[in-house]
Amino acid sequence: MVEKVTVLGAGTMGHGIVQLYAQAGYDVFMYDIKDEFLEKALTRISHNLDMLIQENAITASEKESILERISISTDLKEAVSGARFITEAVSENLTIKFDLFKQLEEIIEEDTIIASNTSTFSIQQLSEGVQKTDRLIITHFFNPAHLVPLVEVVKSPGTSQDIIDRTVEVLKNIGKKPVVLKKDIPGLIANRLQAALVREAFYLLDNGIADAEDIDLAVTAGPGFRWAFIGPLETADFGGLDIWKSVVENLAPVLSKEEKIPPFVEQKVQSGNLGTKTGNGLFTYAGNEEIQRKITERDENFIRLSNIKNNSK
Ligand SMILES: NC(=O)c1ccc[n+]([C@@H]2O[C@H](COP(=O)([O-])OP(=O)(O)OC[C@H]3O[C@@H](n4cnc5c(N)ncnc54)[C@H](O)[C@@H]3O)[C@@H](O)[C@H]2O)c1
Repeated sequence: MVEKVTVLGAGTMGHGIVQLYAQAGYDVFMYDIKDEFLEKALTRISHNLDMLIQENAITASEKESILERISISTDLKEAVSGARFITEAVSENLTIKFDLFKQLEEIIEEDTIIASNTSTFSIQQLSEGVQKTDRLIITHFFNPAHLVPLVEVVKSPGTSQDIIDRTVEVLKNIGKKPVVLKKDIPGLIANRLQAALVREAFYLLDNGIADAEDIDLAVTAGPGFRWAFIGPLETADFGGLDIWKSVVENLAPVLSKEEKIPPFVEQKVQSGNLGTKTGNGLFTYAGNEEIQRKITERDENFIRLSNIKNNSK
């Protein structure tokens, strides 16, 4: 087991990944460009852990030990010294990532793995920013990283099998469900599937088929209820491939194939109605308090679902 790991970038994703490592017993260094970002990340981790205590997933004394395993630094050399596994979760900007890779390559050990959490750059694009491509890999976590089990792993033709095996081992050690893609593809697996569904949800809303609450309910009380345990392909086997042949043949011609975002979403983006981060989006929220309550409710439900899944066959 890798003892010391480092996470670069302490934002939305980085702080959650740091928490996962510390919870699994790793000594983890969290690095960012400003102390205030690191302090804010520690506060977020502390709140996340409080919620786990409240849901009986950890104890108060475990929280203390978890926090003790986290070190923070704005000094890259100090943060990565002795680390055999580095997760890069800095801003989605190729210049920033390449600059960091360049600095890293000058100071890290030969066999230290660099795992990027990029959500939009391909492994080929990332490879252009490093000298040594065999130890570069993508580990794509989902938000909130400390709660959603999936991590998609993308290798390049140059990534060695040993690096893939060690990455999968680390991810399993921190309680994740890694899926290694055989080939790179834009959007990987989960975001392609999500985007297909969200495009259709936008279409249904835009065409007045139902309101936003009911479209979401049709997913959470319907297919989404099953998907926590059986995926779309097993669902097809359970339903019968003859049935699914007809479903796809009959519906594929009438599904949305829109390549552009619908104007009603574009308008919301233009007017700054981005969802919970700005106060309004597809739903209306009664102020910051309601938004915070909804986020807490979401995370509590995710913890409960995790418990159910961990205890199920
Ligand atoms: N937010 C998501 O839902 C999500 C999901 C999956 C993957 N990702 C990916 O994770 C990565 C991070 O995204 P995020 O949402 O956490 O972004 P974020 O903006 O919340 O955090 C990025 C952090 O990186 C820090 N940073 C910027 N330049 C740096 C540098 N040179 N050295 C160290 N730290 C630096 C910033 O100060 C900030 O704290 C991106 O590659 C993104 O595509 C995001």
